[in-house]
Amino acid sequence: MGAPHIAVLATETMDFLTPRAGGTYVDGTLGAGGHARLILDRIGPSGRFIGVDRDANTLAQTRTELKQWPNAQLVHGRFSDLGNILVAQGVDQVDGLLLDLGVSSMQLDQGARGFSFAKAGPIDMRMDPDSDEPTALDLLCDSTPDELENILREYGEERYAKKIARRIREDARAGRLATTLDLAKAVEDEMPPKSRHTQRIHPATRTFQALRIAVNHELDELEAFLNGFDAWLRPGGRCVVISFHSLEDRLVKNRFRDLAWSSSLPPALAAAAGERVTPICRVLTKKPVTATEAEMDSNPRARSAKLRACEKV
Ligand SMILES: C[S@@+](CC[C@H](N)C(=O)[O-])C[C@H]1O[C@@H](n2cnc3c(N)ncnc32)[C@H](O)[C@@H]1O
Repeated sequence: MGAPHIAVLATETMDFLTPRAGGTYVDGTLGAGGHARLILDRIGPSGRFIGVDRDANTLAQTRTELKQWPNAQLVHGRFSDLGNILVAQGVDQVDGLLLDLGVSSMQLDQGARGFSFAKAGPIDMRMDPDSDEPTALDLLCDSTPDELENILREYGEERYAKKIARRIREDARAGRLATTLDLAKAVEDEMPPKSRHTQRIHPATRTFQALRIAVNHELDELEAFLNGFDAWLRPGGRCVVISFHSLEDRLVKNRFRDLAWSSSLPPALAAAAGERVTPICRVLTKKPVTATEAEMDSNPRARSAKLRACEKV
């Protein structure tokens, strides 16, 4: 067993989400339930909590962990499908929404899930292994060299994207990649020896991250959520998103900014011009909130975490 998943920016998340007794809250990325417990403690037995995860294994484990809270409803689904999930639960408005993006330590630690470059497993990386979506190995075999290079460059910010993409695609198609360890080794081989050892992170970290983001369509998921979440918040309700990648953070920043926009024209003129008279949301974080040094020291995952929050007007 690896280290248990530690909820990142836990205090800051509660400070922005401000869960209140009796309120209704959705955690769209339930994971190990770290943030969920904090919310459940605050909303009390009269509150309503809906925890969503696209990973049925995670959900089953966390369901046992959260047994003591009968008001926790756990749903297997994707946060991009928030509207349908809420309708199915008979909820029309919520007081708070939380997303803590990416994978959990639980998922990383299980070699069999294929997320780990340190533990052998099939090259899978699907957060929902029950889906019939392509695995990371399928992606390696079926992408063109240019597509794969773009994935590594864009989602992994990998300097050696071109060389690595060509090598791992060829190896995958020739059947030379049986496990994630073979993949990690192939990536490492394509890096100049100098940069293999000067990096603080494992040489395959960026490639694995990029493949995981592509396999799970993580940016599309986030965009779909951002395009609709505000309709489900009641006035004064809040949305908190914790991201770990600059592309994700940019999507959140831009969407929150769009929702906070309103016309500078006098109200009657704005209405006549079809422009928004009052903002939909107020941004609560001018800059992204990051972890303290102490948190970064105790939880390496917190190093790249960025939290943004907004409130429905
Ligand atoms: C970083 S973990 C969340 C950890 C959690 N906040 C905690 O404190 O234990 C992210 C979780 O979100 C899930 N997930 C990622 N993308 C998702 C999506 N689009 N819809 C639903 N769940 C998703 C993953 O399966 C994973 O369990």
